[in-house]
Amino acid sequence: MALRARLTVWYGTALALILIVFATVLYAVLARGLKDQVDQSLQQAALAAVHALENRFGPFLPFEDFSAQFPELAVVDKFFQIFSPTGNITIASANIKTREIPLSPTALEAAFQGKTTYESARFPGEPPLRLVSVPIIYNGTLVNIVRVGTSLQPVEETLQRLLLVLAVTLPIALLAALAGGWFLAGRALRPVEDITQAAQRISGGDLTQRLHVSPSSDEIGRLAATFNEMIARLETSFRQVRQFSTDASHELRTPLTVMKGETELALRRPRSAEDYRLVLESNLEEIDRMTRIVDELLFLSRADLGEVKMESLPIRLDVLVEDIQRQAALLGQDQGIQVTLGPVEPATIRGDELRIRELLLNLVANAVKYSRPGGKVPISLVSEGNSARLRVTDDGIGIAPEEQPHIFDRFFRTPAARAHAKEGTGLGLSICKWIADAHHGRIEVQSAAGVGSQFTVILPLSTASN
Ligand SMILES: Nc1ncnc2c1ncn2[C@@H]1O[C@H](COP(=O)(O)OP(=O)(O)O)[C@@H](O)[C@H]1O
Ligand SMILES: [Mg+2]
Repeated sequence: MALRARLTVWYGTALALILIVFATVLYAVLARGLKDQVDQSLQQAALAAVHALENRFGPFLPFEDFSAQFPELAVVDKFFQIFSPTGNITIASANIKTREIPLSPTALEAAFQGKTTYESARFPGEPPLRLVSVPIIYNGTLVNIVRVGTSLQPVEETLQRLLLVLAVTLPIALLAALAGGWFLAGRALRPVEDITQAAQRISGGDLTQRLHVSPSSDEIGRLAATFNEMIARLETSFRQVRQFSTDASHELRTPLTVMKGETELALRRPRSAEDYRLVLESNLEEIDRMTRIVDELLFLSRADLGEVKMESLPIRLDVLVEDIQRQAALLGQDQGIQVTLGPVEPATIRGDELRIRELLLNLVANAVKYSRPGGKVPISLVSEGNSARLRVTDDGIGIAPEEQPHIFDRFFRTPAARAHAKEGTGLGLSICKWIADAHHGRIEVQSAAGVGSQFTVILPLSTASN
């Protein structure tokens, strides 16, 4: 069932229950109140009659022509009866209908004990009666019983009218409330319907679609905003995947084109063994390049899948930095680029030493690769607060500010970098970033085009050894 219908049914059921309880209580309270009122007025009339009788006649009543002395009795809505202690009617007011209404045994028994009795009586085809019987006691003995009775018809009529009103108005109220509930549920759920439709369009392939977000921060507004953020992320990652495949094919295609061209050229006519050797050497270079790209891609995709295992052992960063510096000093020798040590403070982190080594070597290799002949590449290590800061600085070609956000993207290489160094896959920094992330650290870059760059790796210090 649709949510709208379900909400309406729940709401209707709850409301119907409330209305039924309300109507029942109302009916019961009113019925009780009306009957109490009748009883009270009966009792007052009976007591008044008893007093009047006692004042006028004393204990013993004259039986003849009694009602003639009370003509006003005939017009009030109550009738009177006076019983002898045997339970026989001795006098009855004129307005008592044709019927004899005898004294019940319980009332008689109560009268002997001096108690007043309230009773209801009903005769077929007539409105019900309410009766009160009051004993008149003289010197400890029962001399008479005065009974006052009245019809309950007005009470019954009032209650029936109330029932009728309730029976007509409650269903109408319920229907009106249900209609209102249906309308409100529809209004409240309309944004959800909008979201569903937008989601359908989006799942149809149009990731540029966005939901119209209402400025309110209500549940629907938040849902729409969250949904939009999700679609934006999806769109970005779809674009990245597409871009990635394009870049990967392109990067692999270049060496293949070179190899194919050189091989075809060599095969065009017979050549000397020396020529073939040169072609094969050149092909080997391209094969190496492709192997490196494929290796790095493989690492990154395994990292994406969470399949790369990471050690978590203490690493002496200061020792590692000195070791890397010795190793990297050879890298720049040909172009007179000096890899030197800046300040190195002792620092220990936890992690995978091979990966950290790879990260540092990548940064130093970049610094050397993008330096100009005679440049300097100092490496430093300081600890600040809870983290170690590894810094690799160069005074090379630098990176323009608008390019800096992209250098950690896969296959991204700045045009300046492509012009400066043929070698390179554009995957190195992606790997560096992944390694830093995996060690709960990060990499920051400061750079100015033509001036130089500074890469800072920030890694949390190991607390165990400090
Ligand atoms: N030290 C640096 N100086 C200038 N540019 C750099 C430096 N390090 C990285 N870059 C820029 O970031 C890009 C990505 O680096 P990287 O992923 O290591 O790829 P690659 O080294 O294969 O070019 C480089 O192509 C270059 O444009
Ligand atoms: Mg690199």
